[in-house]
Amino acid sequence: MRPTGAFPQIRMRRMRRDDFSRRLMREAMLSADDLIYPVFVLDGDSRSEAVASMPGVERVTIDRLLHVAEEAVALGIPALALFPVVEAAKKSAAAEEAWNPDGLVPRTVRALKARFPELGVITDVALDPYTSHGQDGLIDPADPRGYVLNDETLEALARQARSHAEAGADVVAPSDMMDGRVARIRAELDAGGHIHTRILAYSAKYASSFYGPFRDAVGSAGNLGKGNKYTYQMDPANSDEAIREVALDIAEGADMFMVKPGMPYLDIVRRVKSELQVPTYVYQVSGEYAMLQAAAANGWLDLEACMMESLLAFKRAGADGILSYFALAAARRLQRGA
Ligand code: PBG
Repeated sequence: MRPTGAFPQIRMRRMRRDDFSRRLMREAMLSADDLIYPVFVLDGDSRSEAVASMPGVERVTIDRLLHVAEEAVALGIPALALFPVVEAAKKSAAAEEAWNPDGLVPRTVRALKARFPELGVITDVALDPYTSHGQDGLIDPADPRGYVLNDETLEALARQARSHAEAGADVVAPSDMMDGRVARIRAELDAGGHIHTRILAYSAKYASSFYGPFRDAVGSAGNLGKGNKYTYQMDPANSDEAIREVALDIAEGADMFMVKPGMPYLDIVRRVKSELQVPTYVYQVSGEYAMLQAAAANGWLDLEACMMESLLAFKRAGADGILSYFALAAARRLQRGA
């Protein structure tokens, strides 16, 4: 029965009626160009290990990583982000392994750049894979609170970043949240002649519980124990502070700016992009990946659909690029034509 009386003059559904008009008014778009694939690297040969809390994610040795990189290049993914799994014997209070020129990260960088010179290689700059206490910086052994020392840590981070640049890393990504690290790293890189090495600053990195599966994957959870990172990572309650952190990293010379985690922090992504107009990146972290996988494994969510929706939402929020454990799967799906 056709209703009589007043009809809506404005019908939002008209544009949604057909595929052609939905396509014409679509604002955000996801492409392989937007994706950065994080990978966990193991020492040794021809080994892979599953990460229990991250179904579909494996820790792999360098030889196997080259196959992963080959697929990433074929799919058009611009860059990989490396995270080392450091054996317990190489961890120490002062994290000396972090700047070993023949350490796992420099060796991985050299292998990747030799085979795939066009693939961007991003390295993480922070001490947590290398410290026996699992913190991102150095601590005073005499301090019962284990406060992470800022300025002493900067020297270690500068050495670490330089060893990565010397190995050929295209982008170094300080994820430690020490004050002044971007300026210190920039000075160190420039002094070494690495003027083209980009700095991706984890500017707004929150003290999040969504990092749990990552700490299992790199084996730092046990070292950190009941410790936390509240004295350097940001309070999840804050938003203005994130803008100030990004502004400082702009002033210190960073090239790219990261918000982390992702899905619960889309408001921060939007604010950074709108208020500061800088190249803005977002990290869909391990816990976000794990929760989508867990729901899908229970038959509660459609994994592919939710994966694509979550990545598109980052683009809508203003991200220029997305670090995600789904990068490879999403790029495969985009290539198939979704
Ligand atoms: C630490 C680091 C963390 C992640 C990347 N680098 C976690 C932490 O602060 O303990 C987390 C990434 C993820 O959860 O996927 N330098």
